[in-house]
Amino acid sequence: MKKATTSFVCQECGYESPQWLGKCPECGEWNTLKEFSREAGSSFAGQISKDSEVSTTPKKLSDVSFKKESRFSTGFSEVDRVLGGGIVKGSVVLLAGDPGIGKSTLLLQIADKLKSQVLYVSGEESQEQIKMRSKRLVSGRGDILVLSSTETKTVLETIASVKPSLVVIDSIQTMESEDVGGLSGSIPQVRFAALQLIKVAKALNIPIILVGHVTKEGEIAGPMVLSHMVDTLLFLEGEKTTGTRVLRCLKNRFGPVDEVGIFAMQEDGMVEVKNPEQIFLNEKPNNSSGSVLVVTLEGTRAFLVEIQALVIFSKLPYPRRVSSGIDQRRLELLLAVLQKHCRLPLDTCDVFVNVAGGLRLFDTASDLGVCLAIFSSLKNIALSRTVGIAEVGLLGELRGASFLDKRMKQAKNFGFKNIITSKNFDYLFQVIKYLEK
Ligand code: TYD
Ligand code: MG
Repeated sequence: MKKATTSFVCQECGYESPQWLGKCPECGEWNTLKEFSREAGSSFAGQISKDSEVSTTPKKLSDVSFKKESRFSTGFSEVDRVLGGGIVKGSVVLLAGDPGIGKSTLLLQIADKLKSQVLYVSGEESQEQIKMRSKRLVSGRGDILVLSSTETKTVLETIASVKPSLVVIDSIQTMESEDVGGLSGSIPQVRFAALQLIKVAKALNIPIILVGHVTKEGEIAGPMVLSHMVDTLLFLEGEKTTGTRVLRCLKNRFGPVDEVGIFAMQEDGMVEVKNPEQIFLNEKPNNSSGSVLVVTLEGTRAFLVEIQALVIFSKLPYPRRVSSGIDQRRLELLLAVLQKHCRLPLDTCDVFVNVAGGLRLFDTASDLGVCLAIFSSLKNIALSRTVGIAEVGLLGELRGASFLDKRMKQAKNFGFKNIITSKNFDYLFQVIKYLEK
């Protein structure tokens, strides 16, 4: 059968169809399918894949030979752990994050730490700009080749001729090809470039890290398209005002997805934070109200984080609830539980909750800590050396946290003795009564 050389791709979601359609069946948008040819660039990547031995005949599973995936270290133990033990050869990693969060900085540092050759492709910065940035980051030990290009085909050809041990594409949104319709950054362009690079990575067994900017809505441009295609999806997040950066793994074909890596952005680049308490705990013990500690579990690590709350009498008909670091809806729910089951008059108060150090907490075991911080601020009772570890249910009951022993051990290691869990109390109102005394 003759292969179709043109296809129609939705400019909104990347859906591909062999014929033109008025309405995209994937995202429901009208008139978004545009024709593009899959000639030139694709044949280049196709050629490279053909040269490598990829079997097209089915084999018995028992006959398939298997080599344990070979990995190498990035030079950052925080990044290695998030990846599941280093970069897997031939894998494609997407590093996503807001502009200016530190993606290029981190990757340039990784490129510098590797002893073997790294090809750093920048579509955003010229070679001089990269050199300028590298001055304060790079030791000069590494062997970094920089290429300033946005042409997908040039990049593919360079990878094939240089055969570096790692390729960084900064960023995938700047890659373009004449054979594809749409401006650079449009979904067909991003998708096409990513497909070609993935083919080459697999064929030559070279790992590629793609940088992806996140749009205002918090999605990686080319929404779901890229995350389905890559082997590993990493997110670098943090608030620009604080120096804390957290590297999360959202998808990993070669390892666990719940590990986080913690960094501090400093004058000379990203520095690993091995003891998270360094940044998530207030160094100065104080006696002010509104602060309670929680122990969060991120992957295999448990660490202490300070929750701060400020509760004031509100003059507004709809009092404000502002949260930073915890889900707004979770905060509303906990406020409702405090109001109903503990009879705290929060409906007339503005409530602000913040996770110190700029971390985002997804762990429900921090519920109790959030409730106690709110209570502490409302009643002006200082609880800054109290640790709360429990999930709070809708009936105001305390539920056990996973790996409670591990969390308690961490709190005890730091010398905290006042640890409140579902083992001491069954209900939130009992905790509040006990603390009010
Ligand atoms: P960058 O890596 O360019 O972000 P991204 O690639 O994610 O867009 O980081 C840019 C910010 O980082 C910029 O505000 C300056 C700051 N920065 C430092 O604080 N220290 C450094 O050593 C470097 C290189 C940048
Ligand atoms: Mg950048």
